[in-house]
Amino acid sequence: MSYVPVTPTRPAPVRIGLIGAGWMGAFHARSLAGRIPGAALAAIADPALGPATELAAELGVGKVTADAADLFADPEIDAVLIAGPIRFHAPLSIAAARAGKHVFCEKPGSTTLEELAEVEAAVAEAGVHWQIGFNRRYTADFLAARRELAAGAVGTPQLLRSLTRDPGTGSIPNAARVPEWTMFLETLIHDFDALNWMNPGAEPASVHVLADALVEPSLKGAGFIDTAVATIRYSNGAIAVAEASFSALYGYDVRGETFGSAGMVQAGRATETSARLFTSDGLAAETPRVNIELFADAYRDELADFVAHVSARRDGTAAPDHGVPLTPGLADARRALAVARACIESVQRGAPAEIAGSAPAGTGDSAGAAAR
Ligand SMILES: NC(=O)c1ccc[n+]([C@@H]2O[C@H](COP(=O)([O-])OP(=O)(O)OC[C@H]3O[C@@H](n4cnc5c(N)ncnc54)[C@H](O)[C@@H]3O)[C@@H](O)[C@H]2O)c1
Repeated sequence: MSYVPVTPTRPAPVRIGLIGAGWMGAFHARSLAGRIPGAALAAIADPALGPATELAAELGVGKVTADAADLFADPEIDAVLIAGPIRFHAPLSIAAARAGKHVFCEKPGSTTLEELAEVEAAVAEAGVHWQIGFNRRYTADFLAARRELAAGAVGTPQLLRSLTRDPGTGSIPNAARVPEWTMFLETLIHDFDALNWMNPGAEPASVHVLADALVEPSLKGAGFIDTAVATIRYSNGAIAVAEASFSALYGYDVRGETFGSAGMVQAGRATETSARLFTSDGLAAETPRVNIELFADAYRDELADFVAHVSARRDGTAAPDHGVPLTPGLADARRALAVARACIESVQRGAPAEIAGSAPAGTGDSAGAAAR
């Protein structure tokens, strides 16, 4: 008895190495290992070897290392997913690109625009696919709203709004250890991307921020920020407001809106579903409690899109077409980071700040322009 030879018609999976197996990385790892056809989680790199090894064992991954360089040197790895601390995002992206690996990078792409320019240069030189984790775009409601905007249903955008309220208990554990400017670089960066995306063709021009420590007032003197509102002026004249809090007692609340000359489109809702319970106590509704609940499908779908892009490059097939600009790349990372950096300047100076470098002149940023 011998086996019959079979030529597989199903393409080989995209083999992905995870860098950073903490809260977000572990969620992505579980998606890659079980929820995304065409993807395989091939290795995990994290200096915290204990939890990384446990995760690898759970997911049947045979390679674990404390050093991401091992992933870059591994010919059996096609792409990496970077979910480590943000100060490492740019150096890891650059090293990955130079090793010929495609990159999915959690937000932000970098902490500075200068360093992001180095990522852009390395990615362009290597010709790899680089994508950022702006997951909000992949929710059914934000994507539906963006389609309406693309169809011109709202007319000319005039007012935009985006908000993020992280779930909390009224106090912030380890607040003193939250890195400076997390509010803008890690939280509101999602809102800045959402606003940029929901105002097609316009560039963010200036911003004025009011920010404070209202949840943890004792840390105010140390510069801690847990509450912020940014007012952004766009090149098409539209005025946007982004706001965030680190502690909403009712759960995780993410919403967006574009109001224009012909109407308004909204995305997101504070409730988990549209179900409402009416009793003698009044009206009640469930609210989402954590990001991996609210965005479970969006986190999966952004990775599925990444895998589709990498497969298309490998197989010489057409990149996925979503009907509207969707896949966020370096131009989007730059535009959102430019707003975040200007917000930091606005807080430091207590005054409005110009947004510099959101779309640098002469960089040949045609892919970004076409993608908007
Ligand atoms: N898109 C979203 O909604 C969302 C939500 C949460 C976090 N994030 C992003 O995910 C990233 C990670 O955040 P988190 O909450 O998972 O943090 P975390 O602290 O839970 O995990 C970070 C992990 O990185 C590891 N690490 C540290 N240095 C490393 C290195 N040099 N190489 C590899 N791994 C290293 C740590 O040991 C830890 O396991 C951040 O960029 C954050 O902004 C995104």
